[in-house]
Amino acid sequence: MSKSLSEQLKQEVEKRRTFAIISHPDAGKTTLTEKLLLFGGAIRLAGTVKARKANKHATSDWMEIEKQRGISVTSSVMQFDFNGHRINILDTPGHQDFSEDTYRTLTAADSAVMLIDVAKGVEAQTIKLFQVCAKRGIPIFTFINKLDREGRNPFELMEEIEQVLGIRSVPMNWPIGMGRELCGVYDRMKKQVEQFQGDDHSVIKVEKVEDYRDPVIREMAGDYLHDQLCEELELLDVAGDEFDYEKVKRGELTPVFFGSAINNFGVQTFLENFLQLAPKPEIRQSTEGPVDPTDEKFTGYIFKIQANMNPAHRDRIAFLRICSGKFERGMSVKHVRAGKEIKLAQPQQFLAQDRDIVQEAFPGDIIGLFDPGIFRIGDSLSQGSEVTFDEMPTFSPEIFARVTVKNALKHKQYQKGVDQLTEEGTIQVFHATGVFDETILGVVGQLQFEVFEYRMKAEYGVEVQLLRLTYQFARWVAGASLDPSKFRINSQLVTDKNGNYVALFENEYAMRTAMDKMPDVTFSETAP
Ligand code: G4P
Repeated sequence: MSKSLSEQLKQEVEKRRTFAIISHPDAGKTTLTEKLLLFGGAIRLAGTVKARKANKHATSDWMEIEKQRGISVTSSVMQFDFNGHRINILDTPGHQDFSEDTYRTLTAADSAVMLIDVAKGVEAQTIKLFQVCAKRGIPIFTFINKLDREGRNPFELMEEIEQVLGIRSVPMNWPIGMGRELCGVYDRMKKQVEQFQGDDHSVIKVEKVEDYRDPVIREMAGDYLHDQLCEELELLDVAGDEFDYEKVKRGELTPVFFGSAINNFGVQTFLENFLQLAPKPEIRQSTEGPVDPTDEKFTGYIFKIQANMNPAHRDRIAFLRICSGKFERGMSVKHVRAGKEIKLAQPQQFLAQDRDIVQEAFPGDIIGLFDPGIFRIGDSLSQGSEVTFDEMPTFSPEIFARVTVKNALKHKQYQKGVDQLTEEGTIQVFHATGVFDETILGVVGQLQFEVFEYRMKAEYGVEVQLLRLTYQFARWVAGASLDPSKFRINSQLVTDKNGNYVALFENEYAMRTAMDKMPDVTFSETAP
């Protein structure tokens, strides 16, 4: 007899781990991802992911971006099996194409791996991404990378994590030496040493020990390093946080692992521990109440739309995170916002290299749906109920430009393009209410402007000109005492697509001044 659906769902959910790696460029995300994929046998050759990244940097015009998108869509989600688990890694784009997409992708993850360069510590982009994860309260695991290089003191790094990110940390292992002196790590939980050997740091020996005072370590590391290790771990035992799984699950405590991705040192232990501690897909909140992943009715939501995978066709791929039930190719589901049934005929799933047609998928999985223009970010699909997931955060734009159309006769197409791209979440549009009718675009990443310009031309036949403005902050303002005349110096009052007032400021000082002058007005970072 075949397994009942509910049994199958339980098993499949149990083994899934869906997470994102968050880091600042150059911390080693590509390298770590590649090592993880190698463990899972999803790729056979080291260098595969790297090669893709190399392509990514050669971007100046849109065709290149397009190519990169084509490449990066296959890497937007990477799925592989390891130790009985099915793992989905969500890629968060790097520096250049940082955008709202990056943030939204994080809503599809059940946990995050925060990758930190041992020499650089907590960097700008890590902070931004961390904050999004922290807001959702998902568990965050820290991997401190490049231990084979001279880096900062581990205590100092832990302190920085706490000071800058506001999360306490608990080291799961501890380095024995660092840089040229690195000879291994001590695993505090399993009470074992993992030893680095040879000049190329490639041979790894794992040995069980009594505890960190074990003479075996002294023999291996020498007096100086062993004394240092004992001193540091004694201090940690006394003053450090205890491992508390409940706190980890609530995102209040981050387990810290030290290693070196490039040398594949500490990566496997990290992966094993991570899989044990990271959450399986959990209950998600919706307008219809909590949705359990093992609910038999299929539900999911779209967190990202990627356009023009193939320039010959205007197709888009909508990325859907499955929240409950079983997905089967060809199934009919309700498109909740549109209020109609649709058939999911050509779903794609993403492995390291290829795009495959997926036959079935389960909660935690991400599938790519062919989108003939019917989906918007945040749309829910469901079997039966009118469920919608309240997962899509919106963000305050930080970069602004005035847009003009080169050929005034193209105004209709221009409007269509702007509407479509706003819907997709590529840009936010504002209108200036002054003497001239002005359209201002707001984005969180520069690449979004390039994408806008290119797509307006390629898809709508409209050439636009963008003039970068000096504003840095947008605040939605409301209140009876709102006085437009107070937004003149280093600021401007505009309206968003729904007619809400938005104040743009050139700097923090201008924003503070406006707030002081109008104490009864509310200033919010996102639209009401
Ligand atoms: P990213 O995706 O986070 O941007 O980082 P990526 O993996 O590309 O790594 C950035 C650089 O750091 C690369 O060097 C990579 O080889 C190096 N790296 C990654 N992990 C480690 C590590 O554990 N130890 C050391 N010493 N280096 C590491 P690159 O010179 O920029 O590139 P490449 O010439 O090695 O390709």
